[in-house]
Amino acid sequence: MVRVAPSILSADFGCLLDEVKRMEDAGADWLHIDVMDGHFVPNITMGPLVVKALSGRVSLFLDVHLMVENPGDFLGDFYEAGAQMLTVHAEACTHLHRVVQSIKEMGCKVGVALNPSTPLNCLEYVLDELDLVLIMSVNPGFGGQEFIYSVLPKIKALAEEKRRRGLSLDIQVDGGINEHTYVHVLKAGAEVLVAGSALFKAPEPSKLITAFKLLPVKEKDV
Ligand code: DX5
Ligand code: ZN
Repeated sequence: MVRVAPSILSADFGCLLDEVKRMEDAGADWLHIDVMDGHFVPNITMGPLVVKALSGRVSLFLDVHLMVENPGDFLGDFYEAGAQMLTVHAEACTHLHRVVQSIKEMGCKVGVALNPSTPLNCLEYVLDELDLVLIMSVNPGFGGQEFIYSVLPKIKALAEEKRRRGLSLDIQVDGGINEHTYVHVLKAGAEVLVAGSALFKAPEPSKLITAFKLLPVKEKDV
Protein backbone atom coordinates (compact mmCIF):
# COMPACT_ATOMS: atom_id res chain seq x y z
CA MET A 1 0.00 0.00 0.00
CA VAL A 2 1.55 3.29 -1.12
CA ARG A 3 1.64 6.04 1.47
CA VAL A 4 1.75 9.74 0.59
CA ALA A 5 3.74 12.27 2.59
CA PRO A 6 3.20 15.94 1.67
CA SER A 7 6.28 18.04 2.39
CA ILE A 8 5.34 21.20 4.29
CA LEU A 9 8.27 23.01 2.70
CA SER A 10 5.83 24.12 -0.02
CA ALA A 11 3.01 25.07 2.38
CA ASP A 12 1.89 28.62 3.19
CA PHE A 13 3.50 29.06 6.61
CA GLY A 14 1.18 31.94 7.42
CA CYS A 15 -1.57 29.34 7.93
CA LEU A 16 0.44 26.18 8.42
CA LEU A 17 -2.08 24.22 10.47
CA ASP A 18 -4.83 24.86 7.90
CA GLU A 19 -2.47 23.79 5.13
CA VAL A 20 -1.64 20.56 6.93
CA LYS A 21 -5.32 19.85 7.62
CA ARG A 22 -6.01 20.40 3.91
CA MET A 23 -3.56 17.55 3.16
CA GLU A 24 -5.05 15.37 5.88
CA ASP A 25 -8.52 15.86 4.39
CA ALA A 26 -7.14 15.11 0.92
CA GLY A 27 -6.05 11.61 2.04
CA ALA A 28 -2.38 12.05 2.99
CA ASP A 29 -0.88 9.47 5.36
CA TRP A 30 2.33 11.04 6.64
CA LEU A 31 3.53 14.62 7.05
CA HIS A 32 7.07 15.22 5.79
CA ILE A 33 8.91 17.92 7.72
CA ASP A 34 12.10 19.18 6.03
CA VAL A 35 14.65 20.47 8.51
CA MET A 36 17.57 22.41 6.97
CA ASP A 37 20.50 24.03 8.77
CA GLY A 38 22.20 26.21 6.14
CA HIS A 39 25.33 24.03 6.35
CA PHE A 40 24.50 20.54 5.10
CA VAL A 41 22.23 22.21 2.55
CA PRO A 42 22.22 25.84 1.36
CA ASN A 43 18.90 26.75 2.98
CA ILE A 44 17.45 27.19 6.48
CA THR A 45 13.94 26.06 7.36
CA MET A 46 12.49 24.92 10.66
CA GLY A 47 13.33 23.21 13.94
CA PRO A 48 11.67 21.26 16.74
CA LEU A 49 9.29 24.15 17.54
CA VAL A 50 7.37 23.54 14.32
CA VAL A 51 7.17 19.79 14.98
CA LYS A 52 5.86 20.56 18.47
CA ALA A 53 3.29 23.01 17.13
CA LEU A 54 1.84 20.33 14.81
CA SER A 55 2.18 17.33 17.12
CA GLY A 56 -1.18 16.29 18.57
CA ARG A 57 -3.09 18.68 16.29
CA VAL A 58 -3.13 16.37 13.27
CA SER A 59 -3.43 12.61 12.93
CA LEU A 60 -0.74 12.32 10.25
CA PHE A 61 2.44 10.37 11.04
CA LEU A 62 5.19 12.96 11.67
CA ASP A 63 8.12 12.13 9.38
CA VAL A 64 11.11 14.39 10.05
CA HIS A 65 13.83 14.64 7.38
CA LEU A 66 16.97 16.07 8.96
CA MET A 67 19.14 17.82 6.37
CA VAL A 68 21.61 19.00 8.99
CA GLU A 69 25.22 18.45 9.91
CA ASN A 70 25.80 16.48 13.12
CA PRO A 71 22.17 15.29 13.35
CA GLY A 72 23.09 13.27 16.45
CA ASP A 73 23.13 16.56 18.42
CA PHE A 74 19.42 17.22 17.85
CA LEU A 75 17.70 13.84 17.97
CA GLY A 76 16.28 14.21 21.49
CA ASP A 77 14.85 17.66 20.74
CA PHE A 78 12.95 16.42 17.70
CA TYR A 79 11.75 13.22 19.39
CA GLU A 80 10.46 15.13 22.42
CA ALA A 81 8.73 17.58 20.06
CA GLY A 82 6.72 14.69 18.59
CA ALA A 83 8.72 13.28 15.67
CA GLN A 84 7.66 9.70 14.90
CA MET A 85 10.31 9.01 12.25
CA LEU A 86 13.76 10.60 12.27
CA THR A 87 15.64 10.36 8.99
CA VAL A 88 19.30 11.39 8.90
CA HIS A 89 21.57 11.70 5.88
CA ALA A 90 24.31 9.10 5.55
CA GLU A 91 26.54 11.90 4.16
CA ALA A 92 26.09 13.94 7.37
CA CYS A 93 27.04 11.16 9.82
CA THR A 94 30.64 10.18 10.47
CA HIS A 95 29.34 7.49 12.83
CA LEU A 96 26.14 6.46 11.09
CA HIS A 97 25.74 3.22 13.06
CA ARG A 98 25.89 5.12 16.35
CA VAL A 99 23.31 7.70 15.20
CA VAL A 100 20.97 4.92 14.03
CA GLN A 101 21.28 3.17 17.40
CA SER A 102 20.62 6.43 19.29
CA ILE A 103 17.36 6.95 17.40
CA LYS A 104 16.25 3.36 18.03
CA GLU A 105 17.11 3.56 21.73
CA MET A 106 14.82 6.61 22.09
CA GLY A 107 11.96 4.47 20.78
CA CYS A 108 11.64 6.37 17.51
CA LYS A 109 11.48 4.94 13.99
CA VAL A 110 14.73 5.46 12.08
CA GLY A 111 15.44 6.29 8.46
CA VAL A 112 18.58 7.04 6.48
CA ALA A 113 18.56 9.30 3.41
CA LEU A 114 20.92 9.12 0.43
CA ASN A 115 21.68 12.03 -1.90
CA PRO A 116 21.37 11.30 -5.63
CA SER A 117 25.12 10.68 -6.02
CA THR A 118 25.49 8.48 -2.91
CA PRO A 119 25.63 4.75 -3.65
CA LEU A 120 23.36 2.29 -1.92
CA ASN A 121 26.22 0.12 -0.72
CA CYS A 122 27.09 2.62 2.05
CA LEU A 123 24.08 1.10 3.86
CA GLU A 124 25.22 -2.49 3.53
CA TYR A 125 26.03 -2.95 7.22
CA VAL A 126 23.16 -0.91 8.73
CA LEU A 127 20.31 -1.82 6.37
CA ASP A 128 18.91 -4.50 8.68
CA GLU A 129 18.51 -1.88 11.45
CA LEU A 130 16.40 0.58 9.48
CA ASP A 131 12.67 1.30 9.30
CA LEU A 132 13.07 3.41 6.17
CA VAL A 133 15.51 4.33 3.43
CA LEU A 134 14.94 7.68 1.75
CA ILE A 135 16.22 7.89 -1.81
CA MET A 136 16.60 11.56 -2.74
CA SER A 137 15.50 12.26 -6.31
CA VAL A 138 16.74 15.88 -6.17
CA ASN A 139 19.77 17.38 -4.46
CA PRO A 140 18.34 18.38 -1.09
CA GLY A 141 17.86 22.04 -0.16
CA PHE A 142 14.83 23.33 -2.04
CA GLY A 143 11.35 22.37 -3.12
CA GLY A 144 10.21 22.58 -6.74
CA GLN A 145 13.31 21.07 -8.38
CA GLU A 146 13.35 18.70 -11.36
CA PHE A 147 13.26 14.97 -10.75
CA ILE A 148 16.63 13.24 -11.38
CA TYR A 149 15.88 10.12 -13.44
CA SER A 150 19.28 8.52 -12.81
CA VAL A 151 18.13 7.55 -9.27
CA LEU A 152 15.60 5.03 -10.64
CA PRO A 153 18.12 2.12 -10.79
CA LYS A 154 19.01 2.83 -7.15
CA ILE A 155 15.36 2.50 -6.11
CA LYS A 156 15.13 -0.78 -8.03
CA ALA A 157 18.34 -2.10 -6.46
CA LEU A 158 17.04 -1.23 -2.99
CA ALA A 159 13.73 -2.98 -3.67
CA GLU A 160 15.64 -6.07 -4.79
CA GLU A 161 17.91 -6.00 -1.75
CA LYS A 162 14.88 -5.59 0.52
CA ARG A 163 13.32 -8.71 -1.02
CA ARG A 164 16.58 -10.63 -0.90
CA ARG A 165 17.07 -9.93 2.82
CA GLY A 166 13.37 -10.26 3.67
CA LEU A 167 13.30 -6.79 5.26
CA SER A 168 10.22 -4.80 6.21
CA LEU A 169 11.71 -1.30 5.80
CA ASP A 170 9.88 1.32 3.75
CA ILE A 171 11.37 2.72 0.54
CA GLN A 172 10.68 6.45 0.43
CA VAL A 173 11.44 8.76 -2.49
CA ASP A 174 11.64 12.53 -2.17
CA GLY A 175 12.04 15.31 -4.73
CA GLY A 176 10.36 16.30 -7.98
CA ILE A 177 7.47 13.87 -7.60
CA ASN A 178 4.44 14.99 -9.59
CA GLU A 179 1.77 13.70 -11.98
CA HIS A 180 4.44 12.84 -14.58
CA THR A 181 7.20 11.27 -12.46
CA TYR A 182 5.33 9.24 -9.82
CA VAL A 183 4.67 6.31 -12.17
CA HIS A 184 8.40 5.68 -12.71
CA VAL A 185 9.12 5.86 -8.99
CA LEU A 186 6.36 3.43 -8.07
CA LYS A 187 7.32 1.00 -10.82
CA ALA A 188 10.90 1.05 -9.51
CA GLY A 189 9.65 0.00 -6.06
CA ALA A 190 8.92 3.14 -4.00
CA GLU A 191 6.38 2.73 -1.19
CA VAL A 192 6.24 6.17 0.42
CA LEU A 193 6.03 9.19 -1.89
CA VAL A 194 7.05 12.63 -0.65
CA ALA A 195 5.63 15.52 -2.67
CA GLY A 196 5.81 19.21 -1.83
CA SER A 197 5.07 21.64 -4.64
CA ALA A 198 2.91 19.22 -6.65
CA LEU A 199 0.50 18.70 -3.73
CA PHE A 200 0.44 22.14 -2.11
CA LYS A 201 0.00 23.91 -5.46
CA ALA A 202 -2.66 21.51 -6.73
CA PRO A 203 -6.19 22.97 -6.72
CA GLU A 204 -7.45 19.50 -5.72
CA PRO A 205 -4.63 17.59 -3.99
CA SER A 206 -6.98 14.67 -3.30
CA LYS A 207 -6.98 13.82 -7.02
CA LEU A 208 -3.19 13.50 -7.10
CA ILE A 209 -3.07 11.57 -3.83
CA THR A 210 -5.69 9.15 -5.18
CA ALA A 211 -3.68 8.73 -8.41
CA PHE A 212 -0.50 8.01 -6.40
CA LYS A 213 -2.33 5.31 -4.44
CA LEU A 214 -4.29 3.77 -7.31
CA LEU A 215 -1.42 2.97 -9.65
CA PRO A 216 -0.20 -0.12 -7.77
CA VAL A 217 -3.77 -1.45 -7.65
CA LYS A 218 -4.18 -0.94 -11.40
CA GLU A 219 -0.82 -2.59 -12.08
CA LYS A 220 -1.79 -5.56 -9.95
CA ASP A 221 -5.10 -5.96 -11.81
CA VAL A 222 -3.41 -6.13 -15.21
C1 DX5 B 1 14.22 18.77 -0.68
C2 DX5 B 1 13.22 18.26 0.34
C3 DX5 B 1 11.97 17.75 -0.25
C4 DX5 B 1 11.19 18.81 -0.99
C5 DX5 B 1 10.28 18.15 -1.98
O1 DX5 B 1 15.37 19.12 -0.05
O2 DX5 B 1 13.77 17.21 1.10
O3 DX5 B 1 11.15 17.12 0.72
O4 DX5 B 1 10.44 19.61 -0.16
O5 DX5 B 1 9.66 19.15 -2.72
P1 DX5 B 1 9.17 18.92 -4.20
O6 DX5 B 1 8.15 17.82 -4.15
O7 DX5 B 1 8.62 20.24 -4.59
O8 DX5 B 1 10.39 18.50 -4.99
ZN1 ZN C 1 12.46 15.92 2.37
